[in-house]
Amino acid sequence: MDSLSSGLVAEVLERLHREAEAADAPLTQALPDGAGDYYEVIGQFIKAENADLRGVYSALAGNFLNVSPQFGRFLYMCARACKARRIVEFGSSMGISAIYLAAALRDMGGGQLIGTDLEPGKVERARANVTAAGLADLVEFRVGDARETLKSGIGGDIDMLMLDGAFTLYLPILQLLEPQLKPGALIIGENAFQQASGYIDHVRDPRNGYLSHPLPFDPSRGNEFTVRTGRS
Ligand SMILES: C[S@@+](CC[C@H](N)C(=O)[O-])C[C@H]1O[C@@H](n2cnc3c(N)ncnc32)[C@H](O)[C@@H]1O
Repeated sequence: MDSLSSGLVAEVLERLHREAEAADAPLTQALPDGAGDYYEVIGQFIKAENADLRGVYSALAGNFLNVSPQFGRFLYMCARACKARRIVEFGSSMGISAIYLAAALRDMGGGQLIGTDLEPGKVERARANVTAAGLADLVEFRVGDARETLKSGIGGDIDMLMLDGAFTLYLPILQLLEPQLKPGALIIGENAFQQASGYIDHVRDPRNGYLSHPLPFDPSRGNEFTVRTGRS
């Protein structure tokens, strides 16, 4: 049995998805007709030259912006498939994706998830949420800009990397962690739009030591599945 299908983790996730839907509904409803989903709108801000990322995200401090249950299950399955022991997440928000990932670690006997978010209030809620799910011993959340918080103290090789923060930073964050990515490590880029800082070009070029392909979930959201093959 897996801890997504029944028990405490399943109950907490169900509650959090309900809370997230209620909290983020005004954001979706406030969009002008034809604006697409809110990621597209947020994307416009993030892509703007010299974007004030802290300003963009502090305006969204009450929003979950979380993965869907389907995507969360996929994350869990990825972690199980690569037998992850150490996972890093850029952009943890209120901890929903972190719960899927930490649940996989728990079901495989343990491990460590390092998550990070700019917003101190979100990290506080993420900590409370992983505690409610009984997973606190597996998760370390760091507050601040991932370019700083992930610079050191990862503690060893990384089996899986979840990129779900400002997508203009995916390439710099990947390059920061690259020396610690195990051959075979999985990298999931949520909203890894082509325009995002050269990330897609980097991971789709096998000479850089990756094989990469878009995911069929919500294709308009630019979700990218990447495997670290190692530098040739
Ligand atoms: C899409 S949300 C993450 C959702 C989360 N992964 C989930 O599924 O529950 C993106 C998060 O990235 C955070 N973020 C954006 N830029 C960041 C940065 N430079 N460093 C750390 N966190 C950042 C934002 O505060 C926001 O909470």
